[in-house]
Amino acid sequence: MTLLAIEQLNVWFDLDGGRQLHAVRGVDLSLDAGERVGLVGESGCGKSTTVLAVMGLLPPNASVSGRILLDGKDLLEQGERSMVPHRWRDVAMVFQGAMNALNPVRTVGDQIREPIELHGIATGERAQARVGELLELVGIPATAGARYPHEFSGGMRQRASIAMALACKPKVLLADEPTTALDVMVQAQILQLLMSLSDELGLTLLLVTHDLPVVAQTCGRAAVMYAGQIVESGPIDELFHDPRHPYTRLLFAATPDLVGTDEVVSIPGAPPPLDRPIQGCPFQPRCPAAFDRCLQEDPALRPVSAFHRAACHLNEVAAGMGRGVR
Ligand SMILES: Nc1ncnc2c1ncn2[C@@H]1O[C@H](COP(=O)(O)OP(=O)(O)OP(=O)(O)O)[C@@H](O)[C@H]1O
Ligand SMILES: [Mg+2]
Repeated sequence: MTLLAIEQLNVWFDLDGGRQLHAVRGVDLSLDAGERVGLVGESGCGKSTTVLAVMGLLPPNASVSGRILLDGKDLLEQGERSMVPHRWRDVAMVFQGAMNALNPVRTVGDQIREPIELHGIATGERAQARVGELLELVGIPATAGARYPHEFSGGMRQRASIAMALACKPKVLLADEPTTALDVMVQAQILQLLMSLSDELGLTLLLVTHDLPVVAQTCGRAAVMYAGQIVESGPIDELFHDPRHPYTRLLFAATPDLVGTDEVVSIPGAPPPLDRPIQGCPFQPRCPAAFDRCLQEDPALRPVSAFHRAACHLNEVAAGMGRGVR
């Protein structure tokens, strides 16, 4: 059953000189209750903007259109007001770089206690007990709450940030780059933690990352974002074995762990600037398979199988010939 549905989400940022940057361009993404979905793409493609829009926490220079449905209720209907009762209580977020944003002069326990008291979950000794529970839930001894962030390792600080996000027992957790800047061993532990939290608490997880192997290890389904749009989405196995967008294929090729080679291949070129109109397919200038139509027409995200969608003209050409993008 769908718990969170993002429909035709657009986000624009006002820039100096009256210009606008169209950061999120018609994103559709839904999460079933208890599901783990990865949102993956290069830096600047609009991942954080998408999740901040869901939280209603975009900066004042942003404007938004579309629908964000939680249990069928539109969180954008009355602007930020509709989201307030649900923020942290139903949908919570671990911010990008959260582990480095802990206040250095307050103990970790005090910082976890703050959302508990702020949202009226508990006060006094009961709040203190909840801090201990949350720390243990994320694999930190309750007594470590008396320590300061600099006394924690990077992995422990990230665990504490996750504990903070879970303070109000949310149904959905949006985790923005939760393993970036951690070494591989600690990264694996944090991913394991997120998986066990989603299994044990029935937590629905949207895992935002630029790292496709992270999604492959953690999520059943992924959405690939490019230049503010979802260009492919589907079960992770299907994306891996039968990618239907050249960008997804190149992303997998650029990740040595998944293809059994040590050589990291980077994708040549850069995404288009988002502060001016994009003609045709946004990936076309970097696409090894681009043809005339790609210069003219932005391909729509279309089904290529029951649960798999891709936005590439080659699929329509290939459908006529009975094969996919290769
Ligand atoms: N407050 C802002 N004002 C203007 N432009 C912004 C603002 N925040 C983000 N942007 C722009 O919006 C686009 C999307 O940014 P966003 O941070 O969502 O990307 P991202 O996919 O999360 O990237 P990263 O992987 O680096 O975190 C980028 O072009 C970025 O420069
Ligand atoms: Mg980001």
